[in-house]
Amino acid sequence: MKELKVYNPATNEVVKTIQYTSEEEANQQINKAQVAFESWRERDAHDRSALLLKWYQLIEEHKEELAELITLENGKPYKEALGEVAYANSYIQWYQEEAKRIYGKTIPANQKGKKIITDPFPVGIVGAITPWNFPAAMIARKMAPALAAGCTIVCKPALETPLTTIRMVELAHEAGIPEDAIQYVVLSGRDAGRIFTESPIIQKITFTGSTPVGKQLIKSSADSVKNVTMELGGLAPVIVHKDADIELAVNQTIATKFRNSGQTCISANRIFVHKDIEQDYTALLTEKVNALNVGNGIEKDTDMGPLINQQAVEKVIDQIEDAVEHGGELSLSIEQLKLGGNFLKPVVIRHANLEMKVMHEETFGPIAAVMTYDDLDEILKVANDTEYGLAAYFFTNDYRTGFDIYKKLDYGVIGWNDGAPSAAHAPFGGYKESGYGREGGIEGIEPYLETKYLSIGNM
Ligand code: SIN
Repeated sequence: MKELKVYNPATNEVVKTIQYTSEEEANQQINKAQVAFESWRERDAHDRSALLLKWYQLIEEHKEELAELITLENGKPYKEALGEVAYANSYIQWYQEEAKRIYGKTIPANQKGKKIITDPFPVGIVGAITPWNFPAAMIARKMAPALAAGCTIVCKPALETPLTTIRMVELAHEAGIPEDAIQYVVLSGRDAGRIFTESPIIQKITFTGSTPVGKQLIKSSADSVKNVTMELGGLAPVIVHKDADIELAVNQTIATKFRNSGQTCISANRIFVHKDIEQDYTALLTEKVNALNVGNGIEKDTDMGPLINQQAVEKVIDQIEDAVEHGGELSLSIEQLKLGGNFLKPVVIRHANLEMKVMHEETFGPIAAVMTYDDLDEILKVANDTEYGLAAYFFTNDYRTGFDIYKKLDYGVIGWNDGAPSAAHAPFGGYKESGYGREGGIEGIEPYLETKYLSIGNM
């Protein structure tokens, strides 16, 4: 049996060795999920809700253990990991409540004696593929609505961070959710993608990850016309207008930019600051960024952990070198920011311009690149000039300017004077190549439901 070593990105030590799932086992698990679907869909919504509530309570009881696992396999600071567990659990709580609010409707018919009713039914067996950057939250916001809707689900966590998912699934079983209704498989992304999309049993694929992999999954799902939800890459712009509260803008930029060392799909990637305030904004940003304490996430005073691996470090260094070649001014030299292993100090780049890779490629690292602008309408065009459309942020204290920017930005998640817009009760998802479908809110259960309508004649 093939073994998978899970490494701690802070020390490069092995956290745990686990077994891969074989293809035969994965298919057997999918078969079991199909059998479980028949009874899970029949349980009444209150019953499913009660089991999700129990799961929520068990996660709350085990939050320290789960947070430590996240820190060990992902690297993020323990206090941030604890925040992720609470964030993940807020999805379970939300969908535990929503399970009881899946309503049908009656449509006025156009003939006497006729009645039309609609009902939402569970889509079926779900294959979920999740990334390493939020090992608890990304899986929770797929598993919870799927189970609430009456679907059964097989999850494939990232191979860098499978341990959190495994523990969450164990807790779900402990809560009384049937073992075959919620399962995990340990497979490479390529194998899981192939097995899930080729399976005639799986009716829905839900994926969070990169746009190229998402496109591949969409193509392979097309053959059997599977229902898909895609939460893909981003290239978030931040617009700091001349009337913004500079301190608030800096604090919130740091919140969005350096969360999880910048390894977040909704991280700020391009910061556009009005020329009148650029100097003040960048000076304060640099001061606060320099004060961030980089270290092993398990230490209490760590603000920012390592990147996930060397490949991630190299990509970030490449973007920084490229920015310097194109006239960028760094707050620290490249030698100063390399701390060894997977650790990098966060860096501010002044005089960013559109020739730089950092303004076009998703960074997934701790670089804050600041470009100035003069004309708001022009910079809004630049902000929208990308194939991505996940998250965007802007700072202004003028409500007319604010609503105008909100209307013009082609993005699914927008923060106005807010660098932390994500919430279980709000719909998360993107425009354009950032994917389709929404996770969270009342919208987040819809991808797990099919609408059936019944037309009754001769009443
Ligand atoms: C992501 O990186 O896609 C998740 C970010 C979030 O849920 O806030």
